[in-house]
Amino acid sequence: MGTARHNLRVDGARLWSTLMETAAFGATPAGGINRLTLSPADGQVRNWFRDACEAAGLTVGTDELGTQFALRPGRDSTRPPVATGSHLDTQPTGGRFDGILGTLAGLEVVRTLNDAGLETEAPILIVNWTNEEGSRYAPATMASAAHVGTFTTADILARTDAEGVSVADALRTLDIVATEPTGSRAIGAFVELHIEQGPILEAEDKTIGVVEGGQGILWFDGTITGFESHAGTTPMPRRRDALLGLAEIALAVERIAHAHGPSAVGTLGEAVIGAPSRNVIPGRVRFTLDIRDPRAATLDAIDAELRTALAEIAGRRNLGFTLDLVWRQEPVPFDPGIVALIERGAESLGLPHRRMVSGASHDACNLALKVPTAMIFVPCKDGISHNEAESATQSDCTAGADLLLQTLVTLANAPVAAARG
Ligand code: GLV
Ligand code: MN
Ligand code: MN
Repeated sequence: MGTARHNLRVDGARLWSTLMETAAFGATPAGGINRLTLSPADGQVRNWFRDACEAAGLTVGTDELGTQFALRPGRDSTRPPVATGSHLDTQPTGGRFDGILGTLAGLEVVRTLNDAGLETEAPILIVNWTNEEGSRYAPATMASAAHVGTFTTADILARTDAEGVSVADALRTLDIVATEPTGSRAIGAFVELHIEQGPILEAEDKTIGVVEGGQGILWFDGTITGFESHAGTTPMPRRRDALLGLAEIALAVERIAHAHGPSAVGTLGEAVIGAPSRNVIPGRVRFTLDIRDPRAATLDAIDAELRTALAEIAGRRNLGFTLDLVWRQEPVPFDPGIVALIERGAESLGLPHRRMVSGASHDACNLALKVPTAMIFVPCKDGISHNEAESATQSDCTAGADLLLQTLVTLANAPVAAARG
């Protein structure tokens, strides 16, 4: 085997065909994917991924939360692997690229190195993190967070979905058996390729986003309690309508996010009436909030303003409320050395690029707390993501994978001190 060269390019058609082949697992009629974490469709794609990695000569391990690690040995097995990857789970109305591109691009990088008969000094590791999306189990990116020690494994295993099924039960149902403890897998550096999920690259005609960090996130679970009573007989002034309280809260979220604009964003994504009935005034509603901003101080300010607004609305309408912070992700900077390496790589490949901060959450944001980390973005059509219409071009996916290949090989062949940051 020779040592990896820099004129190497991935096979873009092969990468594309793996994206389209795996899109069959959980495919929706509208052309997207519904592959909630640890669902039967997720089980199918995990098996596909394990088999494809093993066929490429990789050794696949699984941690206690079901995260898959596929290792390609390096010349120096004492060096920690240079890792890449993302996630294969999707939103319920997800697309074919969010997470999937980064995971399958890792496989394509390895296949390209294999075809060329090239080895690297440090090993290369491809990771499929469990539950990046956070739609079945909160929080998002829970497995990578547990990997870096933000949560204990026991805490995450006990989390339940809306039907009361725990993560531990879901892993058992899919016959996922751990071969290593969570957090035990050595990782020397982490580079994740992902679609941008926003409109900036496309609008500026750039192929590559060089990601300097991720913004901060607050997730809240809340409830409003009023009083269920007859829709025909209860006069308007006597009502304690929980849904009307929630309607005001939704507008307060919009107002507060605008007040901290343009960077802050706020979303009331789930609103569930306790016992919905056409002729009963809603007495209980449950809701979720997702608030984001690149500055920690703004998150603090929004948190305080939200609590004041809820108290005022509930007091005026004679409603009860709860508001629990279930996740706080601090804004996280990526490793300046890897960010600069990606930027130089885009330059050398002749790819138009710009620096940016990620609006979405990613497993890389957790990894960055522990190891040198950065991300590469490619454009998606109309900036649309978390939607079945999500779309990216074969040529942009190929460009991103070429840059990923170059970045991983440079890191894996760098002198030990530089590689270990
Ligand atoms: C993950 O997809 C997120 O950014 O919420
Ligand atoms: Mn993603
Ligand atoms: Mn997503």
